[in-house]
Amino acid sequence: MSIEQDVVSLFHETYGGEPDIVVRAPGRVNLIGEHTDYNGGFVLPMAINRAMYIAVRYMGGEMVELVSGDFHHSAKFNLNDFEYQNPHWCEYIKGVAHALKQRGLPLKGWEGAMMGNVPRGSGLSSSAALELAAAKAFSEVSDFNWDPVDMAVVGQEAENNWVGVNCGIMDQMISSCAQAGHAYLLDCRSLEGQQVPLPEGLKIVILDTATRRGLVDSAYNERREQCEEAAAFFGCELLRDVSPEQFEARAEELPELTRKRARHVITEDVRTLAAAEAMRKGDGETLGRLMDESHISLRDDFEVSNDALNRMVAIARSQPGCLGARMTGAGFGGCAVALVKEGFEDAFTETVVARYKEESGLEPAVYVTEATQGAMRL
Ligand code: GLA
Repeated sequence: MSIEQDVVSLFHETYGGEPDIVVRAPGRVNLIGEHTDYNGGFVLPMAINRAMYIAVRYMGGEMVELVSGDFHHSAKFNLNDFEYQNPHWCEYIKGVAHALKQRGLPLKGWEGAMMGNVPRGSGLSSSAALELAAAKAFSEVSDFNWDPVDMAVVGQEAENNWVGVNCGIMDQMISSCAQAGHAYLLDCRSLEGQQVPLPEGLKIVILDTATRRGLVDSAYNERREQCEEAAAFFGCELLRDVSPEQFEARAEELPELTRKRARHVITEDVRTLAAAEAMRKGDGETLGRLMDESHISLRDDFEVSNDALNRMVAIARSQPGCLGARMTGAGFGGCAVALVKEGFEDAFTETVVARYKEESGLEPAVYVTEATQGAMRL
């Protein structure tokens, strides 16, 4: 059974009868442009074929009732009277409701059954998928206009202000704005994006190291502060506004750590724009090389990789047909992404799984993904 059928069955078992609609919002993999979003820079993610699904019945009234098939747990809240409770999957939905209400949107109640297949904590943005699926459910039920960029900002506000995670805008933007078959080149300062078609003959492979990011929140916030310090040194608000030339001219004056952090972000923006250009030209060799360089920069300058990610990337890179590989997402565990020539992906997957298992003793998950559509009603 598909997950769409599963979520409809869960709805039926929980509430009786049929849902009115099913909504879906995808997780993402970032091809390049890491730790650049909160610096106002460029990212190039795509939506993957793993998503959060919610089967929804319109109820009117003030109550939202939910059941989560993943957590085997139900929850409900009143749209006109809700508070932050324990850290819990339902807080993402409340956070979305809160951000929508702050825009003055009149919200209506619903019953929903939810299920997702984006692995949690692996750096594939299961929380952005949940936020955008919730926003889509509210917009269908309450019948307000769906503005994909504003809804991404709603998702980010839910996460920053309600759940309390200080993420950038990339994950919500791609879960909202993705087009099937395309990656999305996003300018994280203006929030303007361009759809970039995935070149023919190339496969995107996700490599889950089976390590989960431990102290990622504190390390993430520390990186953000270091970037802000570096930007302030150059008299800018965002590192995006420091050109590679400006950086080189004064790099020696910076303390070593700040210099390394800034060098990653400034060179990553250049690589990301070049990667989008290479994709448009169908130049997989250049795209792969830029992904390799991004990994080295994240490992040595930004220092957000870990042994498992480095091992996975090294194994991937030594396989025939692999053009490039890098860690993806916030880092400290989770997933890497590889660019593989079509026709090589089956052997690639098999060998990488076996070698990684042998070398690390961990059970990885490796899968070829398609680029899917952003948040939608099915
Ligand atoms: C996490 C955050 C994103 C982004 C990446 C790093 O996924 O949610 O906003 O900062 O890390 O590129």
